[in-house]
Amino acid sequence: MPVVVVVGAQWGDEAKGKVVDCLAQDADMVVRYGGGSNAGHTVRFDGREFKLHLVPSGIFRPQVVNIIASGVVVDPQVLMEEIRSLQAQGVTVDNLLVSASAHVVMPYHRLLDALEEKQRGSAQIGTTCRGIGPAYADKAARKGIRMADLRQPERFAAVLRRALEEKSRLLERVYEVQCPSFEDIWREYEEYLPVLRPLIADTDPLVYTAVQKGQRVVFEGAQGTLLDLDHGTYPYVTSSHPVAGGACVGTGIGPTHIDAVIGVAKAYTTRVGAGAFPTEQPNETGNYLRERGREYGTTTGRPRRCGWLDAVVLRYAAQVNSLTAFAMTLLDVLSGLDTVQICRAYRLPDGQVTEQFPSDSAVLEQCEPVYEQLPGWKEEIADATSWDDLPENAHRYVQKVEELTGVPVAMVSVGPQRHQTFWRHGVYAERPVRTLQLLAQRQSQAE
Ligand code: GDP
Ligand code: IMO
Ligand code: MG
Repeated sequence: MPVVVVVGAQWGDEAKGKVVDCLAQDADMVVRYGGGSNAGHTVRFDGREFKLHLVPSGIFRPQVVNIIASGVVVDPQVLMEEIRSLQAQGVTVDNLLVSASAHVVMPYHRLLDALEEKQRGSAQIGTTCRGIGPAYADKAARKGIRMADLRQPERFAAVLRRALEEKSRLLERVYEVQCPSFEDIWREYEEYLPVLRPLIADTDPLVYTAVQKGQRVVFEGAQGTLLDLDHGTYPYVTSSHPVAGGACVGTGIGPTHIDAVIGVAKAYTTRVGAGAFPTEQPNETGNYLRERGREYGTTTGRPRRCGWLDAVVLRYAAQVNSLTAFAMTLLDVLSGLDTVQICRAYRLPDGQVTEQFPSDSAVLEQCEPVYEQLPGWKEEIADATSWDDLPENAHRYVQKVEELTGVPVAMVSVGPQRHQTFWRHGVYAERPVRTLQLLAQRQSQAE
């Protein structure tokens, strides 16, 4: 396997946590490369359920080194809670490290996130209010606090005082709210630091060495392609780079070291928060998907917006991530429908039909989906353990996705538990050849 990136191919919550947990079985290292505690990755096995926000999903495999890399913004409060909760459930975190270069989400970032959202009024993004945008903004403005700063008390005290000088002016004069005091933050961090300090390490060389030695490394993405700051539906995006390129920037390895990029895609589409969503079904179909898929946010509990699968989105994800395969998850949710639909193109306001994903969100808002309708299947498929166990119409559905995107569906997930997963192709070997074959097939059909 050697090096594989797992990336969300839609708007997040595609079950990346589950896919990474499955891949971790054969991995040496799992590295979370971006985002922060806005992520909520669910892993279920042996009837148990874990919700992870910062800790990589390889944590349940004691032989795997789990790294929170430099591209992540770390909220020590959330990390502490997560570590304690894992330990209370008998999961060891002795195999967890945090990059010294990762930026810290401070209490004032959370406060600012909520205040900025309020100020946006009707143009709210619907952020998770976890301080992500303000923390990445400070990082880009070169005034953030990094995990390395937490290693020595005097250094932390100095950077915290400097940060508070500016933040207290901003919060108190512009927003007219009280800024958390130095003493309050210091007291809180005195509790966290003895636990967190031993985890802080220079992780870039560790990742690089693992890659150089041919070890099996899984890069775990958070959020999804369409939430990418540059390539997503701006401004209704997050502030990091969930795309596969983010794995390089966020961990310190170069692109030629990556052997495979798996795009995780639900068999339908969901989105949390505001922004364009062409295939959204605010009707009975959407409710059916939400209830069967238990589509309520892992981090915020918000009901997720639900709709049909969008192959324009998936093709775009294939393009910007160089996807070598899809993992199709939650296929079981579609059982019971008479017909299922896949969006294959968009109709623009002038009547023109395009297969391209528009880079301008304002244009996307106006796009009407052009659907292909396929027959559904009534059978429940949660017990399927191989491709052959799926009904014919489920085969057709998955094959249609391959045909519309040119990317093979290598893994299929039919339920939330670890064992409800099977592989269709050797993910690492045959893929590039098959991708090319499918693209050629698609090309000749178009002509
Ligand atoms: P992530 O953020 O991409 O890791 O995804 P989330 O964990 O936020 O959301 C995925 C949800 O779907 C979780 O509740 C999973 O337990 C659940 N899930 C994962 N795979 C499947 C599947 O194949 N079928 C069903 N029904 N649920 C699944
Ligand atoms: P995982 O890793 C789904 C969405 C928020 C909001 C926008 C910006 O579980 O897939 P932010 O708090 O990041 O500033 O919010 O991005 N969002 C997610 N949606 N899954 C996630 O993570 C998300 N992380 C952020 O709902 O629309
Ligand atoms: Mg999630």
